[in-house]
Amino acid sequence: MDKTLEYIGLQGILPIATIDDEAKAEPFARIMGENGLSVIEVTLRTKAAASIINQIAKNFPEMIVGAGTVLSVNDARTAAEAGARFIVTPGFDPETVEYCLSKSIPVIPGVLTPTEMQKAVAHGLEVVKIFPAEAAGGLKYLKAVAAPFRSLKFVPTGGIDQSNMLSYLNFPRVLACAGSWIVPPEMLKTNDFGKISSVTRKAIEAILGFKLKSISLNANSAADARKALGQLEKIIQFPIIGTEDSLFSKTNTDELHQSYSGEYIVLSTNFIDRAVAFFERKRILAKTDKSHIAGGIPAVVDMNLEIDRFKLRLVQA
Ligand code: 3PG
Repeated sequence: MDKTLEYIGLQGILPIATIDDEAKAEPFARIMGENGLSVIEVTLRTKAAASIINQIAKNFPEMIVGAGTVLSVNDARTAAEAGARFIVTPGFDPETVEYCLSKSIPVIPGVLTPTEMQKAVAHGLEVVKIFPAEAAGGLKYLKAVAAPFRSLKFVPTGGIDQSNMLSYLNFPRVLACAGSWIVPPEMLKTNDFGKISSVTRKAIEAILGFKLKSISLNANSAADARKALGQLEKIIQFPIIGTEDSLFSKTNTDELHQSYSGEYIVLSTNFIDRAVAFFERKRILAKTDKSHIAGGIPAVVDMNLEIDRFKLRLVQA
């Protein structure tokens, strides 16, 4: 699969922003980056859109900005010239798709019916946007319509939010969920970037679902474990709630979690590949062989992070 599309999948969510004021490009991109996102979509629904894409592409080289609401070849050209690294269209327009393919720009066209999906397959596409997902029948509809199209991955869009995102993501044929709920137009209008930030965090928190599995100390005390946890909480952005048997020290290591003994903080996560990608966006790499993570997703990944003497290990929940 194309690398950009792969990144979208590893991010799990694709925020869609409709921004009418160029001055909002900088805080928007910064907030997304600060919260651990690196792929974003800006719709061509406003006059400022192309310039906003251009600003983000120039000033945030670590971000991958794409253009949405691309309705024609002309739109696609404008977006690509502005710096868009991928194109999203609401419906299936063969000319726009062919243009993008001819220029090697990843394109995610909107489809809804089996006929449109078959066209996407005929064009050699691997990823389509299913739009409007919720209004068309939601996950039940997607599961039914996806069955014959084994090569397609879907980006459900339209009516997706915090409440239904995870159920879509748990369907393995879903690459990522896209939507404006991360960057609600009313929050953009009032410059409420603090709220946008907390909505974004909540979404990532729900996707990754980090839970403390265990801390094995082999020495010292539970107080040391708490101290190390505090440092880790800053990196993963969320508080870690320990259960009684998840924090243990030398005295009880022998009785608990034998397999995790050693100086490890072990976090379980809903999607280990997405969790590894989340850390990598923060420049914390996996020690485990990368090809293994992309292909046969491993159950355990050790990260190249040591806090005090604790190593970080991720396990699939
Ligand atoms: C789009 O731009 O693809 C959709 O309008 C997004 O739909 P949503 O606003 O329901 O997330």
